[in-house]
Amino acid sequence: MSTVDLDAKIPNNVNLKDDKRLQRALETWLPGYQEWWADMGPSDFNTADVYLRTAVGVGKGGWAHFDYVKMPDYRWGIFLADPSGDQKIHFGDHAGDPVWSEVPGEMRGRLRRLIVTQADTEPASVEQQRMLGHTAPSLYDMRSLFQVNVEEGRHLWAMVYLLHSFFGSDGRDEAEALLQRRSGDPDSPRILQAFNNPIDSWMDFFCFTAFTDRDGKYQLAALAESGFDPLARTTQFMLTEEAYHLQTGENGVGRIIHRTAELLKAGKDPRAEGAIPMEIIQKFINFWSSASFDLFGGEDSTNASESFATGLKGRYREGDGIYSDPKALDQFYKLDIPDGDKMRTTEVPLRRAMNALLLDAYHTDCTRIAQRWQRDVEKFEIGANITLPCTKFNRRQGVYSEARFTPEGELISEAEWQKRHTDWLPTEADRAYVRSCMIKVHEPGKIANWIAPPARGVDDKPFEFEYVKLS
Ligand SMILES: [Fe+2]
Ligand SMILES: [Fe+2]
Repeated sequence: MSTVDLDAKIPNNVNLKDDKRLQRALETWLPGYQEWWADMGPSDFNTADVYLRTAVGVGKGGWAHFDYVKMPDYRWGIFLADPSGDQKIHFGDHAGDPVWSEVPGEMRGRLRRLIVTQADTEPASVEQQRMLGHTAPSLYDMRSLFQVNVEEGRHLWAMVYLLHSFFGSDGRDEAEALLQRRSGDPDSPRILQAFNNPIDSWMDFFCFTAFTDRDGKYQLAALAESGFDPLARTTQFMLTEEAYHLQTGENGVGRIIHRTAELLKAGKDPRAEGAIPMEIIQKFINFWSSASFDLFGGEDSTNASESFATGLKGRYREGDGIYSDPKALDQFYKLDIPDGDKMRTTEVPLRRAMNALLLDAYHTDCTRIAQRWQRDVEKFEIGANITLPCTKFNRRQGVYSEARFTPEGELISEAEWQKRHTDWLPTEADRAYVRSCMIKVHEPGKIANWIAPPARGVDDKPFEFEYVKLS
């Protein structure tokens, strides 16, 4: 197993000290990163002591160390999963060949684009969430937010390492640009739209970590299959950290639903209690899940086909041997598309449907979560339901973006949509109401009235533990 040099200026398990050129390049990038964190990281909490986990190794179990850390002192670093046993490309035209440890010349442009698009989401989410500490419903939740934020910062490091190591001066320029774009900035926005949407409430934050971070998981998992070994090993380790973000979202939305159900069961009006009505929770779920469907790109895509053919981006769990043909040739994907006021089924060559396949895997995963929330609601016997919209609903990308659909996936007219969309998506009034519920609770062991406490604490600590020491 590789050793982690934690004492280096930039902690790493890639022997940075033996590559002086790369070490210098990254040390030159470091002050710009620190400046970005000071400007765009969590607002006003840089002097707080936060009970954070830090990566200290990459092996299974025991890779994380917990302690109080001030966020600007977090040990951001470069960690790659150790090489796996078989070092073979699993899919595409090069299936069965040895993996690449350098970027094949003809793939440079495509690979750089894949890395930059992924990299851009990491700082973007930190920017989107930077004001939330002020309205944290508990210290436990504040810690979770900051944990997610510092790890997204580390993911930026992971991607910048690839850019600096393998893409020469183009890579250095891209690494610089990652610190210049800003979420929501009209002149210099982040690349993908969901990462320019404001996250100004914890309802948004939990939906974002449940749905949008989960898109990240699927994109990373597809890149973790990559024939380009440094990218595969970088994203594999990012996935270990990402699991906590997804859990924060899934449990967070679940705790909000649980609290509202509790109040309804007791015969109380959530609005009178500063809690979030079930129908507003459902609208936020509809909004963030559909915005995240868009992140998968077009269902029929030559670009996705080429990324698969060249061995850069595989299917979900490609390496587990669950697909009959690693080359995905001579197979078709059935796609329902709108045609006037009807739907018709077309067949897309499987390689061109790689985005659709990944979205299907993602949607199955999200369905499992929505069912878990629903099972909890059912226990209260209050007649409320939580559901996940169909992948056709509210799309701005891909084959469904030109038509209108109900959350159940029924094709409807523009006029019908105009009449009903405020039943399905948050209105400005809904958003304002949710924001009005966001009142800070910064005492250990206390929690806001709109969310239930977590089932358990972090690192075997109780909920009452002082997860953040505010100074
Ligand atoms: Fe991330
Ligand atoms: Fe994340």
